[in-house]
Amino acid sequence: MGFKVAVVGATGNVGREMLNILEERGFPVDEVVALASRRSLGTEVSFGDKTLKVKVLDTYDFSDTDICIMSAGGNISKEWSPKIGKQGCVVIDNSSAFRYDQDVPLIVPEVNPDAISGFTKKNIIANPNCSTAQLVVALKPLHDAATIKRIVVATYQSVSGAGKEGMDELFTQTRAVFVADPVEAKKFTKRIAFNVIPHIDVFMEDGSTKEEWKMVAETKKMLDPKIKLSATCVRVPVFIGHSEAVNIEFDKPITADEARDILREAPGCLVIDKREDGGYATPLDSAGEDATYISRIREDQTVDNGLSMWIVSDNLRKGAALNAVQIAELLVERGLISPKKKAA
Ligand SMILES: NC(=O)c1ccc[n+]([C@@H]2O[C@H](COP(=O)([O-])OP(=O)(O)OC[C@H]3O[C@@H](n4cnc5c(N)ncnc54)[C@H](OP(=O)(O)O)[C@@H]3O)[C@@H](O)[C@H]2O)c1
Repeated sequence: MGFKVAVVGATGNVGREMLNILEERGFPVDEVVALASRRSLGTEVSFGDKTLKVKVLDTYDFSDTDICIMSAGGNISKEWSPKIGKQGCVVIDNSSAFRYDQDVPLIVPEVNPDAISGFTKKNIIANPNCSTAQLVVALKPLHDAATIKRIVVATYQSVSGAGKEGMDELFTQTRAVFVADPVEAKKFTKRIAFNVIPHIDVFMEDGSTKEEWKMVAETKKMLDPKIKLSATCVRVPVFIGHSEAVNIEFDKPITADEARDILREAPGCLVIDKREDGGYATPLDSAGEDATYISRIREDQTVDNGLSMWIVSDNLRKGAALNAVQIAELLVERGLISPKKKAA
């Protein structure tokens, strides 16, 4: 018997990718239910060669659903995830609503799979922010080898990280520039077409943004609370794929060659690092792929035991949907969930 899985936010960027990945990876489902807001009632979404009619979250009964993958934003998750969890359905939540809750595990399966057992307190498991997911996949094996003390990271985040409205805005503005129409900024704070914006999410009291704070808090929760991290998060006019320029200071010596060898063997990582034209990964290369790509690995001579590198991944896949499905797979592999009896 397979599982009954609900995808909330099934009409969104991440939700559609969720449906693709559940199907691609052959997750053992008996039934998949696509849920969204009232606006989408009856809309059709694809699941493999099937078409699913979207149902409304507000009126859906979760009592015979085994797993709910939530991807409809923080406010919806805050309201719904605890109620769904109480109905005995395990929630894998893509929003930031529960990531910092001590009773909710925050999981990247390549990094901290054992922490998943803590999900039973609330029946909720959190998926990290897209920029943090790819960062910790690449840094975990290096931390195990040489103990990371401090990270300085600048991100180059694609517009799909801001949902389908973000993608529409880049498309519309780019077109408007070419045909000399007025350019309107609605989703982003300034024009994103042919520009970059050093501001993602709201400002915090210390001058950092919430997106930057999330990278600090989530890296500490998943990798090591002793790691210091300074982030600058930037939105760039790329449709899919987040990139990161990362400087890492280690406690123990580690050479670029050693790091390359470690990363070549590491789960979820793909090293593309030739010191020649095009010998590195770009966001376009990562779009539609599962791997976290690591390029430009080199020693940083300005600190003791320092390395610099470039990390790229598809934010809708490893940054969201793929990681969520991997969490569901981990629940099954570890025997932490079994299908509920369904009404005949
Ligand atoms: N994009 C990324 O890279 C990324 C990475 C990690 C995490 N996330 C998180 O994933 C979530 C979704 O992101 P996205 O990029 O897929 O956004 P999106 O493209 O804007 O899609 C939002 C989805 O939420 C649904 N929704 C909105 N209000 C709802 C309601 N009241 N009840 C039920 N469903 C509702 C929408 O349904 P309608 O079509 O009916 O409005 C749509 O399916 C967010 O929490 C985001 O922070 C995104």
